Parts: sequence; structure tokens; C-alpha cells
Amino acid sequence: MCLSEVFTSFIFILCSVIAPLLTDEEALLPAPQNISILSTNMKHFLTWSPVTVPGETVRYSVEFQGEYERDYANEIWIPISECSLITVTQCNVTEDISATVPYNLRVRANLGSRSSKWSTLKVLFNRITTFLTPPVMEVSTDGYHLLVKLEDLGPTFQFHIFYWRKGQESWVHKKTVKEISSVVHLDTMEAGAEYCVKAQTYVEAINRSSNFSQAQCVRGPDGGRATWMMTAMVSFVGFVVGVLTLPFLAWKMSQTFQYSCCPVVVLPDTLKVTESPATLIHCRSEGTECCDVAVHVIPPEEILRLWIQDAL
Ligand SMILES: *[C@@H]1O[C@H](CO)[C@@H](O)[C@H](O)[C@H]1NC(C)=O
Ligand SMILES: *[C@@H]1O[C@H](CO)[C@@H](O)[C@H](O)[C@H]1NC(C)=O
Ligand SMILES: *[C@@H]1O[C@H](CO)[C@@H](O)[C@H](O)[C@H]1NC(C)=O
Ligand SMILES: *[C@@H]1O[C@H](CO)[C@@H](O)[C@H](O)[C@H]1NC(C)=O
Repeated sequence: MCLSEVFTSFIFILCSVIAPLLTDEEALLPAPQNISILSTNMKHFLTWSPVTVPGETVRYSVEFQGEYERDYANEIWIPISECSLITVTQCNVTEDISATVPYNLRVRANLGSRSSKWSTLKVLFNRITTFLTPPVMEVSTDGYHLLVKLEDLGPTFQFHIFYWRKGQESWVHKKTVKEISSVVHLDTMEAGAEYCVKAQTYVEAINRSSNFSQAQCVRGPDGGRATWMMTAMVSFVGFVVGVLTLPFLAWKMSQTFQYSCCPVVVLPDTLKVTESPATLIHCRSEGTECCDVAVHVIPPEEILRLWIQDAL
């Protein structure tokens, strides 16, 4: 009884000392080290340091375990078929990480019939920790339209676009874009005003946003101001010309009338209303002849022509 117990213990100790030695003999391959997840913009990659055996090509196989498998499916591991016996030291696990729950991942090395032990992540991975980069953005104008072009990151991504008129930072507009077609129209700009735009990506599945991109500013066309200035300038020049020419025209007119009609008397009809009717009568009675002759010599069309010449 006592002896057999000692014997059993001896066998047990012997086995537990020898067994690992035998296993090690079979699995000479070291397990991959430095296993980690790189996750940027919801794209996840498992990476590890290579296992090197001189003159041989070591292959790797990757498996994952989601929350469901861990808690409700006997802790089974699911092989990733795209990463079965691969020669690279990286596995795209984006498709497999399909929920916002903690995942575990493991990798082992293979060489012929020999395999290493599994190397497992030290910390479970949750895609909520993905690194979101500010969107690449290009702000432009088309006439008075403020436009922005954003890099297409796929259907998982939305963009929060903020824009404001420079100098009116308290007045910020927000636009959320779900589908990036090509170029997004933000607003119609005021002539000559400068507008600034910044954007961040948002991922609904993890309720997280990236940092903002650096603001980019563009100025609307100066067309409106230019037209206004042109109008103002033309008006001013016209006014100056008018002011300078008007007295001259008036003087020329009076001259013309003076030459057409002998005395001072004919033009007064319009220009010298203050003339006494007596003078007018005097003209009519005394200078009828010359007036009539004058009218024949220089007809109204000719006077008009003279005016136009003067005006030009
Ligand atoms: C693991 O990474 C560290 C630092 O990046 C490096 O020094 C070490 O050599 C790596 N281990 C292996 C087995 O490559
Ligand atoms: C990783 O897989 C995702 C999903 O299948 C794919 O969209 C992405 O382009 C892949 N990335 C690389 C670098 O292969
Ligand atoms: C998303 O996160 C914000 C805080 O960052 C929280 O106020 C909001 O309720 C969350 N939305 C959802 C749908 O979980
Ligand atoms: C976002 O910006 C803050 C402050 O500028 C910085 O500390 C942080 O690292 C940035 N985060 C990312 C994900 O780039």
C-alpha cells in the first residue's frame, strides 16, 4: 500500500520530468514573439517577429477567439483561412474583428510537420481602440461655391465638416457627410470673403471621432467688389466729365444761338426766361429777317450735330 504509493509518485515525477523533454524534442520551433495588433482607421493587422531557421522557410498560422467563442462556445479558436501557413509576419484580421467586443488572437510557426507553441496577445483587442487619423482634405472654390474633397475611407466612415467665415469664428456651420461621392458642396460664399474648413472622421460602430484636420482657408472670388469698383469709377469719371463739359456745352450753345440769331434775344426763350417780354418783342419786330435767315442757314439737325461734336 505505502510502497505502491511511493512507486506511483516516483512514476509520476519521472513522467513529468521526461515528458516535457520529449515534447521539446518534437517542437524545436520557437513560438513567434512580439505579437501585437496594429489598428488604424478600423483596419486591423496582427504582427509578430519572425522565427528564423537557417535554410528553411517558416510558415505561420493565425486563429482568433471572439467574446462569444470565449464565453459561450467552449473557448474554441477559429482559424483565419487567409492566414493559414503564410510566409509573411502579418495578418489582415479586419474581416474577423466584426464586433465591438474584446478579441483574442494567436499565432504559431510551422516548419514541415513541426509546429511551435501558440503565441497569444497579452491584452485582448477591442476595435474601439483603433487609431483614427484626421481626414485628408482638399478645399476649393468654383465661382462662389465652397467645395471640399475628402478621402474615401469606405462605408464605415462619416465626416463631420465644420466651416466658418474668417473673422466670424463664433459662427461655425456643421455638415455631416455619410457617403463620399466625390466633391461636397458646403455653401455659397460672399464675394471677397475668406472661408475656413476643417473636418474629422466619425465611426458610428465605435462612436468615436478622429482629431480635426488642419483648417484650410480659401477666399471667394472678388468679382462682386471688382464690378462695384468699376461701376463706381465709371460713374465718377462720367460725373467729372459731365461737370467739366456742361458749362462748356452751355456756353457753346449760347454761342451757336448767338450766331444763328443776331441779338441776345432768341435764345432767352429757354435760357433767359427772366428777359422782359419787351426785349422778345423787340427781337421779333426788329430782327425777323436775320432770325429767319439763320434758321435756314443752320437747321436744327446741324445744331444737334455741333453739340454732339462738342460733347465728344
Ligand atoms: C521583439 O521586439 C523587440 C523590440 O521591438 C526586439 O528587440 C526583439 O528582438 C523582438 N523579438 C524578436 C524575437 O524578434
Ligand atoms: C484588409 O482587409 C480589409 C477587409 O477585407 C480590406 O478592406 C483591406 O484593403 C485589407 N488591407 C490590406 C492592406 O490588405
Ligand atoms: C457617443 O459618445 C458620446 C460621448 O462621447 C455620448 O454622449 C453618446 O451618447 C454616445 N452615443 C452612442 C450612440 O452611444
Ligand atoms: C489629438 O490631438 C491631441 C491634441 O492635439 C493629441 O494630444 C492627440 O494625441 C491627438 N490624437 C490623435 C488620435 O491623433
